[in-house]
Amino acid sequence: MNAFAGRVVLLTGAGGGLGREFARQLLAAGADLILSSHNPQRLKAAAEFAAQSPNRFGRIRSLLPADLSDPASCDHLAEQVLRIAPDLDLVIHNAGVGLYGPLEALPVEAAERLLRINLHAPIRLTARLLPALRNRPRSQIVFISSILGWAALPNISVYSATKFALRGFADGLAADGYCVSTVYPFFTQTDILESPQYGTTTQRRVPGWMIDRPRPVVRASLAGIAARRHHIYPSWKARLYAVTAVVAPSVLPPFSRLVAG
Ligand SMILES: NC(=O)c1ccc[n+]([C@@H]2O[C@H](COP(=O)([O-])OP(=O)(O)OC[C@H]3O[C@@H](n4cnc5c(N)ncnc54)[C@H](OP(=O)(O)O)[C@@H]3O)[C@@H](O)[C@H]2O)c1
Repeated sequence: MNAFAGRVVLLTGAGGGLGREFARQLLAAGADLILSSHNPQRLKAAAEFAAQSPNRFGRIRSLLPADLSDPASCDHLAEQVLRIAPDLDLVIHNAGVGLYGPLEALPVEAAERLLRINLHAPIRLTARLLPALRNRPRSQIVFISSILGWAALPNISVYSATKFALRGFADGLAADGYCVSTVYPFFTQTDILESPQYGTTTQRRVPGWMIDRPRPVVRASLAGIAARRHHIYPSWKARLYAVTAVVAPSVLPPFSRLVAG
């Protein structure tokens, strides 16, 4: 049986490159979707993109714009979801922003905003949604971390901190008995690769051959989520990076020159 047919899913960051692809594939797999994103126009465009799929079996129950950098907006989103979807089965914490540059060059407000969106919001939303999830027999919480949640690269310290922390938070929830999956994408072709950059003279460029495409990354992520895997590496590059980070971390500094130059 299709693991997503009839499952009620909240997806954040639905308007972004990975989000709209998650929405499209989940809709095709029969999920009942609540989509959230910051920008209402991008959210609507993502819903239209997802619904264009000729073989879609699911439905979009609701579109809920929310600014996850604002705790009150997180709470409002959680209240709306609990009202619209007391039968919530699956939450995919996908929203995230990037910020590139040495710490001393980063505007402190931008770094703190990143912390709120990438880390505080998933924790806050999860806490608010647990009462609904706890009552569902096959509930699951998914965090989109990053390979940078296994080993950091230069000039991306605050972003990496949030992705490491999501891995720790997910492990903690799993230890508390919840079904939790954490996804570690490698560099993938979305707008986040054009995130604001501070304090470096050279423009960061990830070589094109190294960049994964959203469609297979999302396909592999959903296969891992369907199998209720705890750690999900959605491409061979992601798996290789994570394994290297653990067994041979000294290999990574030369690699980092390829992407940080
Ligand atoms: N692409 C990669 O290379 C890569 C690698 C590893 C991990 N990831 C992770 O994958 C996830 C999805 O990112 P992506 O690659 O799809 O990037 P993206 O295209 O830039 O999408 C980011 C999403 O986050 C949403 N967002 C940003 N600020 C927000 C806020 N204040 N409130 C609510 N939502 C907000 C955006 O909303 P709007 O569209 O409405 O503005 C957008 O939907 C992120 O967690 C990212 O860290 C990406």
